[in-house]
Amino acid sequence: MTASDMQPATLIVVDHPLVVHYLTVLRDRRTEVREYRDASRRITRLLVAEAVADLPVAPVEIETPMEGGFMGGRLGKPTVLAPVLRAGVGMLDGALDVLGESSVGYVGLQRDPETVQPVGYYSKFPDLAGARVLVLEPMLATGGSLAKAVDLVKEAGGEDIVCLCMVTCPPGAETMARRHPDTPVLTAGHDRGLDPNSYILPGLGDMGDRLFGTPH
Ligand code: URA
Repeated sequence: MTASDMQPATLIVVDHPLVVHYLTVLRDRRTEVREYRDASRRITRLLVAEAVADLPVAPVEIETPMEGGFMGGRLGKPTVLAPVLRAGVGMLDGALDVLGESSVGYVGLQRDPETVQPVGYYSKFPDLAGARVLVLEPMLATGGSLAKAVDLVKEAGGEDIVCLCMVTCPPGAETMARRHPDTPVLTAGHDRGLDPNSYILPGLGDMGDRLFGTPH
């Protein structure tokens, strides 16, 4: 049985061929920063398209340059993007490519030195009432940070939340299923597990370091 066979119901692996293609670019240790950012942006566009595929379309009447009375459609629900600092910011441009009118909120988390649990050090959200909130957190390792980020989004009034990840693994997916069973997690890849330092295996290394060119 593979990790994917055991995934919780809240986890959705987006295995579009383009996602598989660009995720392989991210996994490859030889990929340089420019191509890395490009692949991350392309995958995020595809994940976002999937994350809003069930949203309602509101009818809107417009005129085309050729004639009036054309009944078109507009996205029938506002969207909010919520990247988790730092690596989640690497998914923001791709998400804005698709949802150019979204508001953006930010979540900053750090580890409490005594409890070793993630605690929020910064969060600023737009009005979340009635919106689909897309939480951007590329690596779902133990799941503690994403679960805490979703706690903060819910405390700020978010009710319709979807999380977008590049790579997940069973421990993180199980944490999310236990703490937020109402919140789907869309991922580009679901991997085998964690190393002793809680890095995902086979994974892609440290996403933030690779995106932002900081040494690991
Ligand atoms: N964060 C990363 O950037 N990579 C991992 O594998 C786990 C957490």
